Amino acid sequence: MHNEIEKTLITEEDIQQKCQEIGEQLSKEYEGKFPLAVGVLKGALPFMSDVLRKMDIHVEMDFMDVSSYGNEMRSSGEVKIVKDLDTKVEGRDVIIIEDIIDSGLTLSYLVDLFKYRKANSIKIVTLLDKPEGRTVDIKADITGFSVPNEFVVGYGLDYQEKFRNLPYIGVLKPEVYGGDN
Ligand code: XMP
Ligand code: MG
Repeated sequence: MHNEIEKTLITEEDIQQKCQEIGEQLSKEYEGKFPLAVGVLKGALPFMSDVLRKMDIHVEMDFMDVSSYGNEMRSSGEVKIVKDLDTKVEGRDVIIIEDIIDSGLTLSYLVDLFKYRKANSIKIVTLLDKPEGRTVDIKADITGFSVPNEFVVGYGLDYQEKFRNLPYIGVLKPEVYGGDN
C-alpha cells in the first residue's frame, strides 16, 4: 500500500497532534452540554474516533451516510441520504464531523437538513479543507489542515475504497489511477 503513495502531505504525528488540539477545544466549547457528534461515513471515521477520544466531556455519536461521489473523483452536485441518523436532532447541539470539504455541497446539504430538523446549534469540524474546490459558500468552524486542489487519500479518504486505513494523508502515484489523472 505505502509504495503506491507518491508523497505524504500530512504526517501521522501532525494529524494526531491536531486531533488532540481539536478535542481539547471542543471539550471547552461544549462544557456542561451533551453534544451530538455526527460522523459522515465513511471518510470521517478515523478522524472522528481520534478527536472524540481526546474529549473529556460526554458526547453522543451517530452517523450519516450521504452520497454525492460514488466511486468517481468529482462531485455530481446531488446529495442523497444513504443512511440517516437514529437520533433526534431537535434541540441538540450538533457537531458535524467530516473528512474533507471540497465543493461544500455535502455539508451545505447537511447543515440545511439539521436546521430544518431544529438543531439547537450546528458546528462543522473537518479534518481537511480544499478551498479551491468550493462551489457553494460554506465554511467549517474548525479545520484541521488546508490542502491544495489535488486528490488526496488516507486517514479515511479513499480511492476506489482503498487507502482509508493509511495513517497519514498522501497523494497517489499517477499510475495508480491508470495514469489519467
Ligand atoms: P463536497 O464536494 O460535497 O465533497 O464538499 C465532500 C466529499 O467529497 C469527497 N472528496 C474526496 N475524497 N479525496 C477523497 O478521497 C479527495 O481529495 C476528495 N475530495 C473530496 C469526500 O468523500 C468528501 O466527504
Ligand atoms: Mg466523505
